[in-house]
Amino acid sequence: MTESAEEQLGGIRVTKTFAIEDSARARFGTTVDAIKSKQLRLVRLSSLFQALLPLLGAISLVVSLLVGGIMTMQNSITLGSFVALTLYLRIIMGPLQQIGNVINTVQRSGASLERVNDLLSEVADVRELPEATALQTVQDITMENLTFSYPGSSSPALKNIQLNIRAGRTVGIVGKTGSGKSTLVKLLLRTYEPPEGTIRINGTDIRQLSLESLRSRIAYVPQDGFLFSTTIRDNIAFSDREVSLDTVEHSARQAMIYDNIVRFPDRFDTLLGERGLTLSGGQRQRTSLARGLIKQAQLLILDDSMSAVDAVTESGILRSLREIGKGKTTLIISHRISAVRHADDIIVLDEGRVAEQGTHAQLMVAKGLYAATYRLQEEGLHHV
Ligand SMILES: Nc1ncnc2c1ncn2[C@@H]1O[C@H](COP(=O)(O)OP(=O)(O)O)[C@@H](O)[C@H]1O
Ligand SMILES: [Mg+2]
Repeated sequence: MTESAEEQLGGIRVTKTFAIEDSARARFGTTVDAIKSKQLRLVRLSSLFQALLPLLGAISLVVSLLVGGIMTMQNSITLGSFVALTLYLRIIMGPLQQIGNVINTVQRSGASLERVNDLLSEVADVRELPEATALQTVQDITMENLTFSYPGSSSPALKNIQLNIRAGRTVGIVGKTGSGKSTLVKLLLRTYEPPEGTIRINGTDIRQLSLESLRSRIAYVPQDGFLFSTTIRDNIAFSDREVSLDTVEHSARQAMIYDNIVRFPDRFDTLLGERGLTLSGGQRQRTSLARGLIKQAQLLILDDSMSAVDAVTESGILRSLREIGKGKTTLIISHRISAVRHADDIIVLDEGRVAEQGTHAQLMVAKGLYAATYRLQEEGLHHV
């Protein structure tokens, strides 16, 4: 019931805008009814036992009085034994009832314990090797024969990927939604474990590396950057709470969110979330981008991190990236070509495969998928 209530309350805006309160209420009612009937059965059973136990006690007392009385009169047992028997019987009833209660409690707790144990015994899919080494610097990244399917999925999300990302370069990855762009990054970050020997950094299989060293050397801006219910400043300074306000402001400028923030009443101390301000999709995305940019890492990965910002803001961010990206390896992932056209190397993904690769000029000459997509997206812009 708690689970269901939580979900209904979380989605209350969607429910209201679709005007389906009645059916949502009915669905919640079904859950509550199911619990109610189970609880009623429990109460019925336990009251039956609670009534039955004293009844049994009373019956046994009557029986012992009758049988013991007759036996005493026939002198089979002494009067003393008879009195003792009836007294013992009364004494034993209380503990018997308690045993019943204990069994009840043990069974209920057993069910809860099982759920807790299920959770505690869950093992992580990605595990560090005991002899894992620390990644010192991120240089060349190579992917070889990388084929990957999500657990439980029948068709691979990535098929036979061969890639070489040279240190210090800016590499763009474009492709339709669902072409496998995010999957590639998830494997590089080992959110999912890549097959052995398929992804190497400086020639070392990333499965040999400690997770902490790998992830701390990568600044990753996810597609749907989650913001915490705290101040904007703490959200941006997430990787290091000690950084100065100046640094936070600098990152906010680079992510083109500074002008928005300074217009909020509490500026960088503005609270976000439940009891604070709600940011728009584009503002959320740029705040999350500032959080990634502030992290001093050798590899910067932006996974569709500009999908909710307009073209002008996007080009501003790209300008910042060229500044930040000096001496760093930068991976810009996007479904929009405008975000990657100036990259040193562009990889076009299609249905989990590398369809094309090259610079913008080379890919335009090739007149393949990239060029066709470019034309479509440019036309779209001109119609706006
Ligand atoms: N957690 C997951 N479990 C199963 N399949 C997934 C999961 N995440 C993504 N996929 C599938 O993998 C494919 C590639 O997805 P993704 O890498 O997110 O694409 P992109 O980032 O290019 O839009 C899609 O077909 C998607 O449905
Ligand atoms: Mg994606």
